[in-house]
Amino acid sequence: MEHTAWAEIKLSALSHNLAQVRQCAPKAKVISMIKADAYGHGLVEVGKQLAPEADMLGVARLSEAQTLRNQGISAPILLMGTLLSDEALRYCATHRIALAIHTLAQARQVAALGIPMELWLKLDTGMNRLGLSEVELHQAHQVLSTAKAAHSLNLMTHFSSADEDSAPITTEQIDRFDRVANHYPNLSRSLANSAAIISAERSHREWVRPGIMLYGSNPTAIPMDLMPVMTLKSRILAVKSVSAGESVGYNGKWTASRDSRIAAIGIGYGDGYPRQLPNSTPVLVNGHRFPVVGRISMDICSIDITDSTLQINEGDNVTLWGEGLPADDIAPLANTISYHLFTGVTSRVPRLYR
Ligand SMILES: Cc1ncc(COP(=O)(O)O)c(C=O)c1O
Repeated sequence: MEHTAWAEIKLSALSHNLAQVRQCAPKAKVISMIKADAYGHGLVEVGKQLAPEADMLGVARLSEAQTLRNQGISAPILLMGTLLSDEALRYCATHRIALAIHTLAQARQVAALGIPMELWLKLDTGMNRLGLSEVELHQAHQVLSTAKAAHSLNLMTHFSSADEDSAPITTEQIDRFDRVANHYPNLSRSLANSAAIISAERSHREWVRPGIMLYGSNPTAIPMDLMPVMTLKSRILAVKSVSAGESVGYNGKWTASRDSRIAAIGIGYGDGYPRQLPNSTPVLVNGHRFPVVGRISMDICSIDITDSTLQINEGDNVTLWGEGLPADDIAPLANTISYHLFTGVTSRVPRLYR
């Protein structure tokens, strides 16, 4: 194989993880979030895997919805967090793309267009990012329910802190949502992201919206049977001896305290392996953990294999995260979250589907 750094994507793990979503929220329909290139895993491949099993696919850009349709994926799509021209709205209406409505102006624009659409009125319950206020939601509902086209209306909100164990804001957000939703008992509702699916059963309604847990990452401390979908891999490019007192990599950020065996691996921040990762970040070679030493550079980083009892050779595979090395363990070392690791894998890293 010619690849130096690659991401193996195990599509069957998506189905396994979706089954875990259904176990957590057995009565809910599922909007599988595949925005941002399916969290870096590949929009079309993940879309094709999940379309027959998920009830709906969730994206955040019109171009993502268009790509899915152009690739023949006919599952219902929910497009969130956009501002669209009338022409784009018409495209959505004719391609079964439902739209999240987060401003009153959007509601009026859709109403004026006069084409029936599936719409999700998004209530801002405390994230203070996107969403209608309580008053605006009532107005938007009025505008759309009396519009000349018969729109299908639903209600949604998004949690700011569901990944924080028993954060009071989550309970407040559910209560605020219910106060408004109770006016519209016939509308379907959706609140829960992955963290809430796992840890806030009270938030499960007719629909849930898992993202990160589909990709095998658990944003809560509650144990879950999730399988990693992406395993980021590279190969050892060279093995060399470094004498005690010598340094490795840019700016000498690691100095050998003993005579050492150092392996250079063909992956770096140009591939999305974060430069922030410190000395001692674990990688896997032949099933054993070894520490990163020195700065991660653009194409290369180094590990200390002095303690290896096995022969390690040029060309051996290295796992940076994934099977055997959870991304949830690596992300905090770079001061970030698994979402950021996955979406940060750059386009020069081929995704190999199996
Ligand atoms: C509106 C909305 N719903 C659901 C999700 C899925 O969240 P998670 O990946 O935490 O499950 C996201 C992701 O950011 C989102 O923006």
